[in-house]
Amino acid sequence: MNQNHTDAVPVIAIDGPTASGKGAVAQAVAQRLGFHYLDSGALYRLVAWLAIHAGWTSDTVLDVAHEQQLAQWASTLNVHFEGESIVLDGEEVGQAIRAEEVGNMASKIATVGVLREALLQRQRDFARPAGLVADGRDMASVVFPNATVKVFLTADAQIRAERRYKQLIEKGFSANMADLDKIVADLNARDERDRNRALAPLKPVADAFVLDTSHMSLEAAIQTVIERFRQVV
Ligand code: DC
Repeated sequence: MNQNHTDAVPVIAIDGPTASGKGAVAQAVAQRLGFHYLDSGALYRLVAWLAIHAGWTSDTVLDVAHEQQLAQWASTLNVHFEGESIVLDGEEVGQAIRAEEVGNMASKIATVGVLREALLQRQRDFARPAGLVADGRDMASVVFPNATVKVFLTADAQIRAERRYKQLIEKGFSANMADLDKIVADLNARDERDRNRALAPLKPVADAFVLDTSHMSLEAAIQTVIERFRQVV
């Protein structure tokens, strides 16, 4: 069924594990189609950033007493997205929230139900004309269950770790901070947590189009998603 009949604007949902290339693919597809872009992981990273700055550590952040504060931050995030720039409470954090420490903290807090709920409407508000490309873990399963196209982007863990390493170096993080062995270990731990959590776990929905980009160029992945979209609309 073409669910566009019921939805106001077309949505391309792209889910996948960390460093699968979903961000790069989603951004390029959005740009070429003239659609808006939602990097849902950035919202989780922003809340993680606030938690880190409140002095919480990965050991203390999941204390039940912290849940309401996490939800509160999520629902009141004072954030402005403009291309690569992300301004939180007047501070540019677009690059800082890409650090592995922030990603790992984001994966931890993403298990908290009240936080996920608080982010739900904020994510849906990104669906505006002419359309939206949204990337994350639960875009097709929870946030946009009626998405026009649902893509599950994946790649081998080792290849993803190498891509993440390159990305961190390109973003100006030092080789020390971007240690490859540590990245492989963190990536596996993060995948494990994101796939096995009780709420909105990372897995392809039944009607997802699974795209393995291990041996595929970025351009080929972009073209495949656009073709898929054109076939449906
Ligand atoms: O895509 P990312 O690496 O920026 O996401 C960081 C973490 O945020 C990820 O490990 C799990 C969480 N996340 C989520 O639970 N649901 C989403 N839709 C996006 C991210």
